[in-house]
Amino acid sequence: MKITRRKFIKQTLASVAGILGFSAFGYSYARFFEPHMLTVQNYTIENEKITQNFHNLKILQFSDTHIGFHYNLSQLEELVETINEQKPGLILFTGDLVDEPHTYDFPPQLPKILQRLDAPLGKFWIYGNHDHGGYGTDKIREVMELAGFELLQNQHTVIRNGTESFTLVGIDDVMLGRPDIKKTLSRVGGNPFTILMVHEPDVASEYQHYPIDVQLSGHSHGGQVQLPFFGYLVTPPYAERFVEGYYHLNQGLHLYVSRGIGTTRLPYRFLCKPEISVFQLKMKES
Ligand SMILES: [Fe+2]
Repeated sequence: MKITRRKFIKQTLASVAGILGFSAFGYSYARFFEPHMLTVQNYTIENEKITQNFHNLKILQFSDTHIGFHYNLSQLEELVETINEQKPGLILFTGDLVDEPHTYDFPPQLPKILQRLDAPLGKFWIYGNHDHGGYGTDKIREVMELAGFELLQNQHTVIRNGTESFTLVGIDDVMLGRPDIKKTLSRVGGNPFTILMVHEPDVASEYQHYPIDVQLSGHSHGGQVQLPFFGYLVTPPYAERFVEGYYHLNQGLHLYVSRGIGTTRLPYRFLCKPEISVFQLKMKES
């Protein structure tokens, strides 16, 4: 097919305009729209060790708010409303509350907003690398304490409902804390249904050999940006193998990796919406 010079120039200009237009659209979408498109992911967890009193219990996980980096307190207020609307029995925060604790001014409203989160069986949290980083360890603990969250730092707690119970374990941050899974689990007696919180997901490869039923992690932000045919743009250390969603490991461990709420380093999300995850427990006939 013969193509005239004028037609060629016209077509080239049109393609350039198209690419520029798409990138401008893609940029605006990733910068201004998708980071605000909070989603609620609903799952069920079925296990023989889940007892009658916990059948249908809703456990809600949120992670990686990174407050202070393109995430403000009015967004946090909306998040708290959305979480409470799910009517969870238990609320779990899996780390990275503030992006840079050493530069953040910690307004007094911050713990007050988090305090509004409501769960009859309690609110628990673990440290992420950004919480320990920048001398945030004490400050973040103070905020979470005021907000009514209990810290699990190489500790476990027994969640009770009537005469029945299960175990919730929290491990210190893997990158900047002093995680000790062996010692922590040695204090858990019997063989209860056990949920573990640890910020970095990739330790599941090692942790699957311990008596844990479910591991909940964050840290990856789901890569934050996913490009078609390319995949995740950035996967941080300890979130390179397990990046988002559900994984069922060989030893029987179920791992869930949350894409989290906020962003870090770059204020973009693309094909990687922020999320809160709700897990409804179900009894399983053995
Ligand atoms: Fe994070």
